[in-house]
Amino acid sequence: LENGLLRTPPMGWLAWERFRCNIDCDEDPENCISERLFMEMADRLAQDGWRDLGYVYLNIDDCWIGGRDAEGRLVPDSKRFPHGIGFLADYAHSLGLKLGIYEDMGNLTCMGYPGTTLDKVDLDAQTFASWKVDMLKLDGCFSTSEERALGYPKMAAALNATGRPIAFSCSWPAYEGGLPPKVNYSLLADICNLWRNYDDMQDSWRDVLSILDWFVKHQDILQPVAGPGRWNDPDMLLVGNFGLSFEQARSQMALWTILAAPLFMSTDLRTISPQNMDILQNPLMIKINQDPLGIQGRRILKEKSHIEVFKRPLSGEASALVFFSRRTDMPYHYHSSLSQLNYTGSKMYEVSASAFPGGLCWGAARSPMASLSWELWGLWRVPVGQLQALRAEAGAIFQ
Ligand code: DGJ
Repeated sequence: LENGLLRTPPMGWLAWERFRCNIDCDEDPENCISERLFMEMADRLAQDGWRDLGYVYLNIDDCWIGGRDAEGRLVPDSKRFPHGIGFLADYAHSLGLKLGIYEDMGNLTCMGYPGTTLDKVDLDAQTFASWKVDMLKLDGCFSTSEERALGYPKMAAALNATGRPIAFSCSWPAYEGGLPPKVNYSLLADICNLWRNYDDMQDSWRDVLSILDWFVKHQDILQPVAGPGRWNDPDMLLVGNFGLSFEQARSQMALWTILAAPLFMSTDLRTISPQNMDILQNPLMIKINQDPLGIQGRRILKEKSHIEVFKRPLSGEASALVFFSRRTDMPYHYHSSLSQLNYTGSKMYEVSASAFPGGLCWGAARSPMASLSWELWGLWRVPVGQLQALRAEAGAIFQ
């Protein structure tokens, strides 16, 4: 969507995967969906380095709505959001953050709260703008295909008519199977800044793999659609939660980076470990994810050895590679060559990389190939355990 927003994939924090629809503030005041939770996450985003790295969106998901007032306007649950959403938006803005909100194009949200029906779309867009909201995620439960086909474009027009820049995240394709002909990706790219194509992420490695597999299987369709202002969204990062090992968490971060995916964390930033923070705050990952060309990466190789290679073209004639191992036995010595990695040029260098079970190495190459430095290729021989060094050196070549 050419509204000037999200020229690079959005980064931020989204409540859903970690905090779900916990509305029990009596039993669990620290973790229930409430003003307190969002203010505490805002504080962490601002104070713990996240905001300055680009994680600026603080996004509310389902279960915030209390109902509608006498004029039909949405109101938040008054017990859990006593000062209203406008207050939260002001709080976020005072810290240099942006506030995202959630609604559903249908009779009810997925968790059963009042949705936005076709007759309510304009009013709801105006309400969000009056609260100074910066992003809307519009879910698709409890509606028909026909209602969604009318509702999403209608909401895009209604948001635009408010005059407030509001990024628009559409779950529409996820409710239509994610593929043409039911999904019209050029229409989506015209009316939405990002869209959920496929299933929800749950807190397990199996979910990461099944979502990754789906995106790779359909990369010929999905990859060309993405670009500045319009992003495929494979759903939230699980890093910091309960389902992934350290290597798996790092793998998700690298894969989402190379896919130019939105980086929405959904974890408890009050208690996240330094190790998980390091993954999410990796400056090279963020730099690659946020590359201004905004080209989504592709899987370019799938080896019998269960090593897969992903490649993403970057600005400045650079590119990023992810070596992803699905092996579950032992560290594996992976050999490749420039030509196998689609680097064409007069010189050919043999390279090798260690790909660990469930782990990976990453590297980035400057082209033209003639200027490719040996140190860089040498990086790929750095064992995964020495990622500190890899990060520092690989970061340097990007300067
Ligand atoms: C389905 C969406 O895909 C999820 O991300 C989340 O928003 C839930 N609905 C909330 O009910």
